[in-house]
Amino acid sequence: MIEITGLNKTFQTANGPLEVLRDINLTIEDGEIFGIIGLSGAGKSTLVRCINQLERPTTGSVVIDGKDMTKLSDRELLEERRSIGMIFQSFNLLEQRNVLKNVCFPMEISGIGKKEAEKRAMELLDMVKLSDRAKSYPSQLSGGQKQRVAIARAMATRPRYLLCDEATSALDTATTQSILDILREINEKTGVTVIVITHEMKVIDQICDRVAVLDRSRIVEIGEVSKVFTNPQSDIAKELILPQAKGIDIIDEGERIRIVFNGEDSSRPVISNLVLECRVPVNILFADTKVLDGKVYGHMLLQLPDRDRQAERVRNYLDSIGIDYTRED
Ligand SMILES: Nc1ncnc2c1ncn2[C@@H]1O[C@H](COP(=O)(O)OP(=O)(O)OP(=O)(O)O)[C@@H](O)[C@H]1O
Ligand SMILES: [Mg+2]
Repeated sequence: MIEITGLNKTFQTANGPLEVLRDINLTIEDGEIFGIIGLSGAGKSTLVRCINQLERPTTGSVVIDGKDMTKLSDRELLEERRSIGMIFQSFNLLEQRNVLKNVCFPMEISGIGKKEAEKRAMELLDMVKLSDRAKSYPSQLSGGQKQRVAIARAMATRPRYLLCDEATSALDTATTQSILDILREINEKTGVTVIVITHEMKVIDQICDRVAVLDRSRIVEIGEVSKVFTNPQSDIAKELILPQAKGIDIIDEGERIRIVFNGEDSSRPVISNLVLECRVPVNILFADTKVLDGKVYGHMLLQLPDRDRQAERVRNYLDSIGIDYTRED
């Protein structure tokens, strides 16, 4: 378990102090896939570097499995870091070493014999579906294959935590999907806790159990992905999660409401019932809904007729059937 309490990080820069993380409080449970999302410069990488102490927090504590990382000596820290693997956007492979030797590298450093290291490396390459490329060099691999090597290397010392900082940001959609599938598989097989840092909501949506939203140095929202994504509270989460709703040309003057589907029965046709029941035409400006286990999640932006009484009828109807909605400006 990772427990971050009251963490602050301030960098001293030529222009004076720069507060990059402010009062971060976060608990990440064993075995979960935890996402941290935010815009560029929000402080995501700094936060993840504070977890393994590549960056020392200015104040606050980072307790991993009962040990306060901020209190460890450099030597103790080296030992503890073995339980934390990390992968990056830029893969960071050793170009002069082939795939097998790249995966063996952390095991060499921790003193594991060559034979044993190579045996484990081959098992790991099998896990990331690259055993046929063991003798290739990084320059001969695609981005997705390089990231798979990096994942195998990060898992070599059997870490309990895997930190992924924008690990799929340089990859196309299909390759991103395959990397996320591998991360999930490894999480399920080994129980490793995975922490995913990204600015892409799709990544969080595809694999994370819980998510923290970071905005200008602070955590502004935290919770289960299904909850945060269906009903974001903070402005930044709304911006990240509902970007498609912006930029719609509004011709009519009618009131707009956003309906939130938070696990409605998918067999209930809410919109057609609304139209039939209220005898009012509504305009669907935007919809992003999905069905999971027979339940609907997501949002729909409706434009109501430009007549107060009709709009009121629609709102009353939604109230009566217990559907959440908000008025949009
Ligand atoms: N070593 C440093 N010295 C001074 N400022 C730093 C240092 N590292 C990061 N920063 C600043 O801290 C802020 C947050 O940076 P960080 O890399 O954590 O953001 P991020 O959320 O990971 O962004 P991105 O999505 O672009 O990777 C930025 O303003 C950055 O310039
Ligand atoms: Mg970053």
